[in-house]
Amino acid sequence: PERVFSGMQPSGDLHLGNYLGALINWVKMQEDWECVFCAVDLHAITVPQDPKILASKTREIVAAWLAAGIDPKKNIVFAQSSVRAHTELAWILNCTARMGWAERMTQFKDKAGKDAERASVGLFTYPVLMAADILAYKATHVPVGDDQKQHLELTRDCADRFNRDFNAPNFFPIPEPLIQGPGARIMSLKDGTKKMSKSDPSELSRINLVDDGDTIAKKIKKAKSDANALPSEVEGLEGRPEARNLVGIYGALADMTSAQVLAEFGGEGFGKFKPALAELAVEKLAPISERMRNYMSDTAQIDVILKDGAERASAIADPILKQVRETVGFVSV
Ligand code: TYM
Repeated sequence: PERVFSGMQPSGDLHLGNYLGALINWVKMQEDWECVFCAVDLHAITVPQDPKILASKTREIVAAWLAAGIDPKKNIVFAQSSVRAHTELAWILNCTARMGWAERMTQFKDKAGKDAERASVGLFTYPVLMAADILAYKATHVPVGDDQKQHLELTRDCADRFNRDFNAPNFFPIPEPLIQGPGARIMSLKDGTKKMSKSDPSELSRINLVDDGDTIAKKIKKAKSDANALPSEVEGLEGRPEARNLVGIYGALADMTSAQVLAEFGGEGFGKFKPALAELAVEKLAPISERMRNYMSDTAQIDVILKDGAERASAIADPILKQVRETVGFVSV
């Protein structure tokens, strides 16, 4: 059976990259797939978090999903820390995964910075927890942005390694990453060679889902571009990272390919393209931030969703963990 699993770190300020790289695809997939969507608070604490605000960030991310159109009845929506299977399976996979795999992860190197000795052990083993998230549900498909590709390769290695080490062929399915569409890699509005990210110190580098219409329009107006007109073919975006990014954003928001966007705007300068992009972005994003604020005004409703989601998630993961324990050889009493 096919099953989708994906996760996002709880952060109040989801940005356009999270939306176009992942969330917009989740909304599409929920129509035809069994989906499990997880607010990954265990991943969040691999770097210091303020205990006073972590829970509200978790509720906020769920509010963002609901606002974007995720249906919590059709899908399972829950917080990672409320289902024990994640940490338990992570430990077991930590014992079959190899140091060398984790050492190769570029995201660890980026996040740990120069002083890796001082990074938490959790940050180092972060991708193994991610593998546990996915495999605890025997998920087969994982929709994410391009930056998670390497982590998903490690997940595939973890699944394969477990199956071999315990002589349990096909126990875990080898999950397929789904990295789709022009939104899979949204870049900073200030530098088309850097990915849009919440850790960028410049607010102008990203559009947040909670930004109001004026802020969105201002950020697009101030986005870095170049002095040339847009090309009429995708090949013409070569060597123009900012132009490529803005065209990609337009395409992802309008559900068009970059080629279709260029068929419409090829030959136009940014003086014309940017206002069109700003108008489209405000039209698509402003209602989401409005709905998000509404959901946040009733956090009790979000907690009901999270509780129900945790129960439904456990109902899938617990029997799988039972099989894992038997496979590993733990005593069952
Ligand atoms: P996170 O919280 O950093 O990002 C959530 C999702 O947003 C995507 N994304 C982007 N897509 C396009 N352009 C960008 N600039 C951009 N920035 C972020 C990410 O690829 C991701 O899909 N480790 C994961 C969370 C996670 C997970 C999982 C995902 C934990 N367990 C299991 C899938 C399956 C993370 O930190 O994503």
